[in-house]
Amino acid sequence: MLSLQKILLLHVLACLGRLAHGSDIIHGTKAPENSMHYMASVQNNMGQHVCGGFLITEDFVVSAAHCNDSSLTYVVLGKHNLKNGNHQKIKIENKIIHENYQQVGLGNDIMLIKLSEKVKLGHGVEIIQLPPAEINLKENQVCQVAGWGKTKTHGKPVDELRVVNVSVITSKNCEEQWPGLPANVICAGGYNTTKGFCQGDSGGPLVCHGFAVGVVSFNYYKNCTYPNKPNIYTDISKYRKWIDEVLRKKKRLSKVI
Ligand SMILES: *[C@@H]1O[C@H](CO)[C@@H](O)[C@H](O)[C@H]1NC(C)=O
Ligand SMILES: *[C@@H]1O[C@H](CO)[C@@H](O)[C@H](O)[C@H]1NC(C)=O
Ligand SMILES: *[C@@H]1O[C@H](CO)[C@@H](O)[C@H](O)[C@H]1NC(C)=O
Ligand SMILES: *[C@@H]1O[C@H](CO)[C@@H](O)[C@H](O)[C@H]1NC(C)=O
Repeated sequence: MLSLQKILLLHVLACLGRLAHGSDIIHGTKAPENSMHYMASVQNNMGQHVCGGFLITEDFVVSAAHCNDSSLTYVVLGKHNLKNGNHQKIKIENKIIHENYQQVGLGNDIMLIKLSEKVKLGHGVEIIQLPPAEINLKENQVCQVAGWGKTKTHGKPVDELRVVNVSVITSKNCEEQWPGLPANVICAGGYNTTKGFCQGDSGGPLVCHGFAVGVVSFNYYKNCTYPNKPNIYTDISKYRKWIDEVLRKKKRLSKVI
């Protein structure tokens, strides 16, 4: 059963992916040039930022399933400033969405993007490690979330990548704030603090100890400035097998071709 609250939430969220400029990081700082080289900007056919993502192999980027729409065309890697021309802009070859994904807010919000060619690693582009199938995030553990999303609820998107520290919230505490929370999510930031993500940050990583443990999925209504419920991420450790399987299949396919 969906509560009214949840239906409203879903409505808002359903719009998130379609907003050309999604959420920005709230109360963050500019990401240092020498950090987070795995960050990807997923863009439409006009070269506008739609969602975040992160590079996990030379030709695969992880993002959120709710970021998918028919306009997605490019992945941009290697530059924190999207206005700077010196980056790798690669065409999307294929998008693979988790088979159980239905709608943002209902879980399984994960998408793999296959690039049409391999990126050149180095010079501001690198891969981020995925967590093992079993991870143990501790309450209040400090992690980072980054993105080119809005920096306040009704704000404008940014050109410079921004990053903010957020604390992990236990699923027990999170479920108290979010009755009916989907399975396989991580809660961090956005509650009891004014730090978190906003529209446009969707698809970006939650980074703990150098591992990409979560994918930015949804927040409460569009209220990013003082959200009163935790921010929700897809728990990547729960999708390790699915990711590995997709990568294996693609490798086999490309060998056949
Ligand atoms: C992505 O969205 C487009 C447009 O809604 C849809 O046609 C396509 O099937 C979706 N892709 C996947 C992999 O579900
Ligand atoms: C973010 O957290 C890290 C690790 O706990 C810490 O070293 C860093 O100073 C924090 N940054 C900010 C801006 O609070
Ligand atoms: C919220 O913050 C208060 C005061 O800092 C603290 O006592 C409480 O445990 C926090 N609640 C959660 C769920 O983090
Ligand atoms: C966001 O939520 C806070 C706390 O509930 C509220 O005070 C504020 O007015 C809300 N802002 C917007 C733009 O809805």
